[in-house]
Amino acid sequence: MLMDISELPRVALDRMNRVHEEEIKILNKLYQSIVEGADIEEIDRNFREFLEDVVNHFTSEQKMMEEFNFFAFPMHKGEHDIVLGQLENLKKNWEKEKNPELIKAFVENEFLPWLMNHIQTMDAVTAHFLSHFIRD
Ligand SMILES: [Fe+2]
Ligand SMILES: [Fe+2]
Repeated sequence: MLMDISELPRVALDRMNRVHEEEIKILNKLYQSIVEGADIEEIDRNFREFLEDVVNHFTSEQKMMEEFNFFAFPMHKGEHDIVLGQLENLKKNWEKEKNPELIKAFVENEFLPWLMNHIQTMDAVTAHFLSHFIRD
């Protein structure tokens, strides 16, 4: 397991917390399949599921920010876009080399540390703002 869900930082909006929890579950599954030496097809399936989940995660936050005119929308979206670009590169390299270590290293060294920081900063401020408009 890459990360225990109980270690996930929480924000003021539960619907965002649920999206983050789901992402960690998907990420744990992907990570597990790599460390257990699953076949390439299974890792590929889990990797695609992860990519799709990240896109949905970011899109759901961006929709809410736009709807309620969040003041730091461009900054928040900017952070999402940088990571989406990195994931796009990783996907290209993965498709070329099919080396699970590429995914494992990215998840451990880039994505997870980034996500923890992003949740505690951008997402926390955004959730606090949105919690004045959205009840969940
Ligand atoms: Fe988020
Ligand atoms: Fe975010």
